[in-house]
Amino acid sequence: MADDIIFADRMLSLGLARVSEQAAIAAAKLIGSGDEKAADQAAVDAMRTQLDMLDIQGVVVIGEGERDEAPMLYIGEEVGTGHGPAVDIALDPLEGTTLTAKDMPNALAVIAMGPRGSMLNAPDVYMDKLAIGAGYPEGLITLEMSPTERIQTLARAKGCEPHDIMVCVLERPRHGELVREIRSTGARIRLITDGDVAGVIHCAETHLTGIDMYMGSGGAPEGVLAAAAMKCMGGQMQGRLLFRNDEERQRAKGHGIEDLDRIYTRDEMVREHVIFSATGVTDGSVVKGARRDGEWLETETILMRSKSGSVRRLYYRQKNQ
Ligand code: FBP
Repeated sequence: MADDIIFADRMLSLGLARVSEQAAIAAAKLIGSGDEKAADQAAVDAMRTQLDMLDIQGVVVIGEGERDEAPMLYIGEEVGTGHGPAVDIALDPLEGTTLTAKDMPNALAVIAMGPRGSMLNAPDVYMDKLAIGAGYPEGLITLEMSPTERIQTLARAKGCEPHDIMVCVLERPRHGELVREIRSTGARIRLITDGDVAGVIHCAETHLTGIDMYMGSGGAPEGVLAAAAMKCMGGQMQGRLLFRNDEERQRAKGHGIEDLDRIYTRDEMVREHVIFSATGVTDGSVVKGARRDGEWLETETILMRSKSGSVRRLYYRQKNQ
């Protein structure tokens, strides 16, 4: 890891918080509307406007999709004023579009930034994910282990029984067997309907969330964003890309990925120090959602820098226009 790569992370971090704050505020106006697309679009527009105010030569590496799918914040799009450090940006203006449309917990506006070349250029395919919080020996659990082995190993390291372990899993038919195996160990499961960036972050804040481990597949772009958060919080994470067909394999090759079976550690997904900001859209265990208080709009943001390990919670309010 090249610690000497400087991209003014300290100065830029507050700017990054502004970006996720405004995306969250824009999306929050559509909480409960049932309109996922409109909520997403509002967040994208606001994030793009804010990013263009930052003095960076930014390139979106994890974004809204390929250029022909996304008119804005597409992969490869240049953002920022064009002055300042060359940075890579991973973003999800609205992580949890359905959560927002249905007013369910843990929707976030998320963004991470690092020096050019710092983040895995993951295609929009699935990723098998595994995460635990800080304080355990490096590589304690791996994607090569069975779910049973992972739970037994973590329970031993934590000095507890498997039934004391809470695993977070996305509720999907594809996870039926995984859920059965986890429960057969005695471990418990927090099923979430969406939002696995928050799901992974929850492992790094067990004292707040009660979650010890994250397992299962979700979007690869969200996997890189979650790895950026875990790098800041000291948690462990591994990811392996999953392909459903040849078109997806070709897409990965187009992103420069040669070994399609590779298991990526957190630091292979996020290779340099990064900054990470997530603002709550709907209420969640890590941050509160954006809310209206009379003529004011308020947000809570978690803003982190991996270089210093600093974690800030920022409360912001602005006049409701
Ligand atoms: P959106 O915000 O794009 O709706 O994604 C939500 C999400 O739950 C992610 O957190 C997760 O990685 C992905 O969808 C899982 O994909 P799928 O719904 O196909 O299982």
